[in-house]
Amino acid sequence: MDYDFNKWMSDYRVISTVGLNEEGGLDRLAFTDYDFAARTELLNRAYGLRLQCYLDAAENLWFSKPGTDPDLPPLLIGSHLDTVPNGGKYDGVLGVMAGFQVMRYLVDNKISHRRTVEMVAFSCEESSRFNLSTIGSKLACGFTTPEKLKNYKDSQGHTPVEFLARLRYSPESLEERREHLKNIYGFIELHIEQGPVLESAGTDIGIVESIAAPIRLKLDIIGHTDHSGACPMDLRHDALTAAAALITEIERLGREESVNKSVATVGKINVPHQALNVVPGRCEIFVDIRGIRRDSMERIRDGMRNFVCGLEKERGVKVEETLLSDESPVPLDHSLGEIIERNCRKTGLSCRWMPSGAGHDAMNVAKLAPTAMIFIPCVGGVSHSLLENVLEKDLRNSIRILYEVVMDICG
Ligand code: GLV
Ligand code: MN
Ligand code: MN
Repeated sequence: MDYDFNKWMSDYRVISTVGLNEEGGLDRLAFTDYDFAARTELLNRAYGLRLQCYLDAAENLWFSKPGTDPDLPPLLIGSHLDTVPNGGKYDGVLGVMAGFQVMRYLVDNKISHRRTVEMVAFSCEESSRFNLSTIGSKLACGFTTPEKLKNYKDSQGHTPVEFLARLRYSPESLEERREHLKNIYGFIELHIEQGPVLESAGTDIGIVESIAAPIRLKLDIIGHTDHSGACPMDLRHDALTAAAALITEIERLGREESVNKSVATVGKINVPHQALNVVPGRCEIFVDIRGIRRDSMERIRDGMRNFVCGLEKERGVKVEETLLSDESPVPLDHSLGEIIERNCRKTGLSCRWMPSGAGHDAMNVAKLAPTAMIFIPCVGGVSHSLLENVLEKDLRNSIRILYEVVMDICG
């Protein structure tokens, strides 16, 4: 495969840096102007290639390059373009841009293939804005509805549905997408690993066997607001110090279950009306429990609930729990993984089978169609950070392996 890597990189830089902030991180949160601008950049390039382009009612972008045999079910590749706050340039974008380069190579070189190649940029993959992940693929797969999405709000009170309304949301168009996904040959999402395993083992490619799924909760801790000078220590019901104890316990429970590869994180905390001289009467924390074993994830949640009972008595606070999402670990398609493995061997790339600790749109598609994921190492395993980085050799490998797999399946 002989293509102009520098030309690809210059397109990559344009799209991956939309929403760059002063610190050098990306603030391309889902459905923001930056997110829409990045999608427009991608669309313009796809029009330039004369790909068929389609925007569905969930704001997912679809691209298609028809094969010579319209009776063969298409292969779908792709990922997402939105980021976490102050995020990096590779999570999601690499899968979209590697897919785009494969499409461009097929077009530029007039390469004929029997099976249609499709690409998707799913919308709102990150849970950062609405506390719910993979909204675009959940809608397209029929695993959520605009009605249910009204319960999810960003920090300004906006719901994802407002952005779907821009397109005069039509349930029929999403039903059509679900039917389409049920009939594809398969879906392959290429992504950075977001962890250190490949890099530390010196392995080129990861083939994902299963994806850890999240249980996500919001806990409202309700204590009593008081004067920080006048209220004595023994009469306080401080919601923030109660939250601190709870957060530490959640970390301890996560560590206890790390033998089963589970993790538990509190990455977001809100103290409404916070002030230096006020004993906090209210605090919200957001809990993200993930694992590849359901029983282990449930032990963390149950342990947390037990601790909450003691905390309420001991500190005179009340804790209200809201379930944000509850998903089970998802196995991926082994046969599709074997095709990736075969092509790694063919191209001289080393590979290993591994679980994914992070969540992906592939989790949803896997419930409707055979689905696989290709992992590429990222430097230091760092992700969801402005320090996210990928070596040039791994960027090249990402395009190479994706192209070989696409041609093996579609050629
Ligand atoms: C997606 O990036 C996740 O939070 O796993
Ligand atoms: Mn991410
Ligand atoms: Mn991602």
